[in-house]
Amino acid sequence: MDILKFKNFSWTYEGFNTPIIKKINLTIKKGEFVGMIGRVGAGRSSLCSSILGLIPHFYPGKFEGNIIVDGVDVETSSLSKLSTIVGLVFQSPTNQLSGAGTTVEEELAFGLENLGIQRHEIIKRVEEMVKLIGLEKFSSRNPFELSGGQQQKVAIASVLIMEPKILVMDEPTAQLDPLGTKLVFDLIKKLASKGITILLNTQNVDQLAEFADRIIIMDKGEIAADGDARSILTDITLLKKYGIEPSQLTTLSYKMKEKKLWNKPLCLTMKDAEEMVCEVMKR
Ligand SMILES: Nc1ncnc2c1ncn2[C@@H]1O[C@H](COP(=O)(O)OP(=O)(O)OP(=O)(O)O)[C@@H](O)[C@H]1O
Ligand SMILES: [Mg+2]
Repeated sequence: MDILKFKNFSWTYEGFNTPIIKKINLTIKKGEFVGMIGRVGAGRSSLCSSILGLIPHFYPGKFEGNIIVDGVDVETSSLSKLSTIVGLVFQSPTNQLSGAGTTVEEELAFGLENLGIQRHEIIKRVEEMVKLIGLEKFSSRNPFELSGGQQQKVAIASVLIMEPKILVMDEPTAQLDPLGTKLVFDLIKKLASKGITILLNTQNVDQLAEFADRIIIMDKGEIAADGDARSILTDITLLKKYGIEPSQLTTLSYKMKEKKLWNKPLCLTMKDAEEMVCEVMKR
């Protein structure tokens, strides 16, 4: 089933002459985990904002074509309607957290309370979320006193608890240190294994290599490439063309190939790399 469909979608910010998103056609199916990569300024954040309807309902500009999420037309629907279908996680957790509650539990309950959901249901969902993000010990702490990585996990949970049909994340680890990045990617990996429909915009190719099903490369407002993760992320020529550094493991296998130590397909995952090392060691 198609959850998200862009049909000839173009977007021009008000005051500009040329569109920064150009005739995008893209369909995402329920349960797919799609990674989005591309150069600085390629239009990735704008595309993320358009799925929740911030484009065109918050940012003024010229909207052409259609975006349909779960059967709902983004251009003609309200932000409040769209926010029940799409969850959008931003770069900075401090911008995302409502600050309405003084504890992690209250922060997570906030959106549900606004929907008028019954108390016992809220308690159940909050408990499940706290467990999912592994912050049981911190559930009574003020989210703003947590580390950046923990805050971002709370921000992701506060979006996820609304049970969106699609979770869109716009560089959720861009402002985190390596430890925070690891915390957040461990959570994202868990979500991927649960079959949640996810569009993740990130520069972290190493992480995408481990768990994305499909990769799209954006360049100059267009989709430059779209395919299964293995074929896109091991195509070094393609990645370089769009200014993307291949993952460390793919690079390693490429260097081994250059030195004639390896003649099989390039590695994508840690499992591939382990197999490569075992085979080379046996020789
Ligand atoms: N609110 C806005 N008003 C006008 N122009 C904007 C706005 N937001 C982004 N742009 C411009 O649109 C283009 C695409 O920006 P966008 O943020 O979507 O790209 P990106 O791929 O997310 O890049 P980044 O690596 O900076 O995150 C850029 O040229 C940017 O300057
Ligand atoms: Mg961006």
